[in-house]
Amino acid sequence: HRAVDLIMRERCFGEAGARLVIEECMTGPEVSVMALVDGETVKLLPVSQDHKRALDGDAGLNTGGMGAYSPVPQIPASLIDEILATCLQPTVNALAERAAPYCGVLYGGYMLTPDGVRTLEYNCRFGDPETQAILPLLSGDFGEICHATATGRLSEVDVSWSERAAVCVVMASGGYPESYRTGLRISGLDEAAAMADVVVFHAGTKAADGDVATAGGRVLGVTGTGDSLPAAAARAYEAVARITWEDCHYRHDIAAQALRPANA
Ligand code: GLY
Repeated sequence: HRAVDLIMRERCFGEAGARLVIEECMTGPEVSVMALVDGETVKLLPVSQDHKRALDGDAGLNTGGMGAYSPVPQIPASLIDEILATCLQPTVNALAERAAPYCGVLYGGYMLTPDGVRTLEYNCRFGDPETQAILPLLSGDFGEICHATATGRLSEVDVSWSERAAVCVVMASGGYPESYRTGLRISGLDEAAAMADVVVFHAGTKAADGDVATAGGRVLGVTGTGDSLPAAAARAYEAVARITWEDCHYRHDIAAQALRPANA
């Protein structure tokens, strides 16, 4: 009731709060499945899982994503085949049949409900931060793959992935996704970026007199890679430990659900 009051009476989202749509409530874990599509050919990227809530243990407010990991061992290959066969490929086929072939990245968000897989959303872009946990696993030339996708030659290029794992921890401004301060100097960036098996992706940063300062809610995506998810997570958090600024906030449990024994 409080949410409806906020949206419809207090209009916290402006005029978007004029109409209420009630949808089926679905429950279950979510996975992100992104695909390269050249209008016809569909090639899947490794499956990843985002962490939408701001705080450890999936507590706190919904965010743009506080971290991601890939692969997702809880998702069997048969389920990925099902998502391709029943969701992604039929969507691409239907668009081609309507003379509106889709070319680019098709990012599907799926929920694994007790009644089976359900599509929650499609985005015509890469996922953030899922992409930071996927592209470090690419074996081929990303530029060549993008060019082949854009020119209808995706079937001609090899899109292969290493057998390794990657974990991306998002470092955010304290207070995000609500109000937060910006312009705070970040230390430890060079030290972290120089580590083997680490990539530091900048999101909400800006140059500040020779230093780097915060300029947004989600500030950095720090990705560690390794031969296993535990090794990748350890690497990512080692890098995160070297970076700091006043009010810095991040989750401490990215990929933890994949590292737990299945019945825990
Ligand atoms: N990770 C959520 C999104 O990119 O929409």
